Amino acid sequence: MEVERVQAISSLAFGLDTIPPEFVRLEEEQPGMTTFHGPVPEIPVADLGGGKGEGAMEAVVKAAEEWGIFQVVNHGIPAKAVKELQRVGSEFFELPQAEKEKYAMKEGKIEGYGTKLQKEVKGKKAWVDFLFHNVWPPASIDLAVWPENPPEYRKVNEEYTQHLLIVAENLMKWLSEGLGLEGHALRMALGGDELEYLLKINYYPPCPRPDLALGVVAHTDLSAITILVPNEVPGLQFFRDGCWFDVKYVPNALIIHIGDQIEILSNGRYKSVLHRTTVSKEKTRMSWPVFIAPPPEKIIGPLSELLNDKNPAKFKSKKFKDYQYCKINKLPQ
Ligand code: SIN
Ligand code: FE2
Repeated sequence: MEVERVQAISSLAFGLDTIPPEFVRLEEEQPGMTTFHGPVPEIPVADLGGGKGEGAMEAVVKAAEEWGIFQVVNHGIPAKAVKELQRVGSEFFELPQAEKEKYAMKEGKIEGYGTKLQKEVKGKKAWVDFLFHNVWPPASIDLAVWPENPPEYRKVNEEYTQHLLIVAENLMKWLSEGLGLEGHALRMALGGDELEYLLKINYYPPCPRPDLALGVVAHTDLSAITILVPNEVPGLQFFRDGCWFDVKYVPNALIIHIGDQIEILSNGRYKSVLHRTTVSKEKTRMSWPVFIAPPPEKIIGPLSELLNDKNPAKFKSKKFKDYQYCKINKLPQ
């Protein structure tokens, strides 16, 4: 079946002032109607001091408790490794369509090149194409869905992943310590060496009506934690106190989302926050989130060390794959 990619729709819409009706969001979702204008609260920016900074743990813990979304600078990933990650990802999306279609997502698979196939409830679609593939652990990697073009794609992604693992492990360690637990507590509860790292590349082409469309609709991340590299085109928004606010672009920063699994393990001490993305009229926005999540069979529930009479469990314990199933199918947790 031929799938219509948003990138192609964007090219056809160039110079027009309209978009196909299925991309026009309901009024209560439209960025033009719902984005807060005025003094914007800024999400925290934590300085990680190259990975071992004094105060990094406190800053990360506070941001995870009070915001659930924050940026980190001085994170230890060389700027060049990030630039290269962005370069090879952009070059993939600039390839001729037929070349990209070689990696098209197959029925029932998470990995591959795609566009959301089924329309959402009320028939609405998101203005984004994407590529998904695991980057860690090695046993989860299927190189058949990694682009062969540009030729450096694999090497660059492998190198970025090595750096990312260190940042992820530090964040999990600090978040564990912030709960008064041993540094390895969260990582082990999430599956230890079996933790899965899934890269998504989001490609949001220019959109003639950014006031009406959305890139990704409002959601919290299903993962334990998400570490995201944005490009310089703003678009990420978070929901707080009943309003949608833009995340400011901070050069060289990574954006961190606390996902649902850390919220559950911490029994709600750390928050997963609602966010969405808007698109730009003239520019292509791209982002590279890595979703760090437990293996499917891992049972996730509030850590027993945190529970007592005054702090009873706020979430059920269940397998990650069951949690995922309920969330995807919008069933009660
Ligand atoms: C997402 O939350 O799924 C995408 C975030 C982004 O593109 O910044
Ligand atoms: Fe997200």
